Amino acid sequence: PYPVYAWLRDVEPVHYSAANDLWLVSRYDDVLAVLRDAPGFSSDLGKAGLDDNPFNPAIRIPRRLARLLDRLPPVRTLLTSDPPHHTQLRRKVAKAFTPRRIAALEPRIREITERLVDDLDDDLVRDVASPLPTIVIAELMGIPADRRDDFKRWSDELVNGLLTGGSRIRMARSALAVSWFFARTVRSRRHRPGGDVISLLVTRDQDGDALTLAELVNFCILLLVAGNETTTNLVSNAMLALFDRPDLWRRLGTDPDLAPAVVEETLRYDGPAQGLLRVTTAEVRIGDVTVPEGARVLPLTGSANRDPRHWADPDAFRLDRPAGDHIAFGSGIHYCIGTALARLETRIVLETLARRHPHLGPAGVPERIQSPVLRGLRTLPVTIRPTV
Ligand code: HEM
Repeated sequence: PYPVYAWLRDVEPVHYSAANDLWLVSRYDDVLAVLRDAPGFSSDLGKAGLDDNPFNPAIRIPRRLARLLDRLPPVRTLLTSDPPHHTQLRRKVAKAFTPRRIAALEPRIREITERLVDDLDDDLVRDVASPLPTIVIAELMGIPADRRDDFKRWSDELVNGLLTGGSRIRMARSALAVSWFFARTVRSRRHRPGGDVISLLVTRDQDGDALTLAELVNFCILLLVAGNETTTNLVSNAMLALFDRPDLWRRLGTDPDLAPAVVEETLRYDGPAQGLLRVTTAEVRIGDVTVPEGARVLPLTGSANRDPRHWADPDAFRLDRPAGDHIAFGSGIHYCIGTALARLETRIVLETLARRHPHLGPAGVPERIQSPVLRGLRTLPVTIRPTV
């Protein structure tokens, strides 16, 4: 997508795409302005009538299914709500993802990663990048190991239906199955709390605030959907960048301290989330363009992170950039709450692979995920022996 972004930024930085009724915003400053203006750009996508798939207008929800979905109460998650509801929800769930809680997971994530790398055969996505985040989030939520395959399937079908133009019927079926599963899990944790994230969320705050059953279920689903595929893709994108830079790969094997910078630069250079979705709450100006009320806006974070108006040498992969400047995790009130976990998992995978498989290399053409907003791989064929 990067040449297209360059064209957009130079020629039409706020571009209306009639095919999917979306306004594409591509310059760094404009993307940041959209993300920081929550009152002007709502995340409550229900308002935009998302009964079609904006990323694949050819796919429509069948009428019978649409009628069924209409009867369900509106699903408002953290990701798709505005203040004041968003503020309350975020306060309640943020405690589950503090940097301290996440840092404490390091030994266990290392253990899981070592085991997956033991079994690495010939596809890095299938064998390591894809299972790791699912296992970690399932353990965090106290989900029994024998349900992990269901867990992974629900997560994939929800993400595919939402963001890659996959089957919406399968998506709806998975949404029902996963809601049912989490509703039962939440009820059982209320009776018998443990040390997991769901138990933490069902217990009341000191100020007596509690999440409702629907809020809890929605948040569990969001955790499943928001963190799995994105983290898998961050690992894949980092490995692609490293395969192109064998010197850096060798250095990483002996100097694991390089890993955090590789993770950060991958987030900027080839981030898993290329675009986010907002709806204007009133007529608004972005750059020189007037966008009407109720318009769907796609701030392209992937483009912002390569904008030469902001970055020196944006198409180069460099480890010496200022920290915290990219917007791969968004910005403003919806800033990703899983950053510490995603960074930790990816860092551990890169360190472990570079140490244990210094000759790891590509073996064939990787298969890309087909989506305008998700950037990553379905398969990454590899060989762990040196090729002669
Ligand atoms: C929000 C990216 C991993 C949970 C976001 C947003 C981005 C993002 C761009 C902002 C969405 C918006 O403004 O509309 C990523 C990337 C990841 C990652 C690139 C991996 C590399 C995770 C993980 C979790 C997670 C591991 C949880 C376990 C969330 C949640 C939100 C969010 C709950 C919603 C926050 C809110 O609306 O207040 N993420 N994420 N993410 N992310 Fe992540």
